[in-house]
Amino acid sequence: MTISIQRSHNGALQSYNVELENVTLLSVLNHIKTKIDPTLTYAHSCRSGVCGSCAVRVNGREVLMCEYKPKSGDCVEPIRNARVVRDLVVDSGHVERFNRTGSAWSEGSREESVKAEEMERIETQSDCILCASCYSACPVYAVNPDFIGPFALTRVWRYVNDPREQDASAKMAAVQTNGIWDCMLCGECVPVCPQGIAPKQDITMLRTKASVMGYQDPNAATAFGGGLDFGSPVF
Ligand code: FES
Repeated sequence: MTISIQRSHNGALQSYNVELENVTLLSVLNHIKTKIDPTLTYAHSCRSGVCGSCAVRVNGREVLMCEYKPKSGDCVEPIRNARVVRDLVVDSGHVERFNRTGSAWSEGSREESVKAEEMERIETQSDCILCASCYSACPVYAVNPDFIGPFALTRVWRYVNDPREQDASAKMAAVQTNGIWDCMLCGECVPVCPQGIAPKQDITMLRTKASVMGYQDPNAATAFGGGLDFGSPVF
């Protein structure tokens, strides 16, 4: 098969011919690096869809290299909306920044027994592997790098929904600016998640919960001339 890979040293696509079939893209790149071109640079670790380090775009769609099986004619590029370090490797420092901005962690657990069905409600959101595919696909983050974005908002929903969480109100307050109301609900983040997480759905749930807590969509307030008054947030 022939595949093209975006190289960073000259900004051009480079074609490689390999005699491999029915293997993962990561295996193809390993073959290229060891047999054809040792300068090709890409990231991987677990080789089993767990660490999230091998996300790239193939033909414009985010995939994990260790899971995707390439076909002839595929075009491989680094994920978008992140600084390219070299070839297919991007700077993943933004992952930590988003978690920080969205307060996407537990503030401390209340001593509370958790029912099995309550754990099930937050199980999927806990499965994020931080591959940043959803940020690559997000059109809002593409134009607003301060947008907290899909995976951090999914994590916030996970903690807001956790009965052991001590300070759900602070979490909700942290996502009012550059957060839940800035999402276009386009759903681009959903099909690219290798873990089957649906950030759009989680953001919609956060909006509903925020409205119940007394927050309002600032865009709606603007649309009505700022005349809507739902009172102060209640927690
Ligand atoms: Fe870890 Fe692909 S190498 S997810």
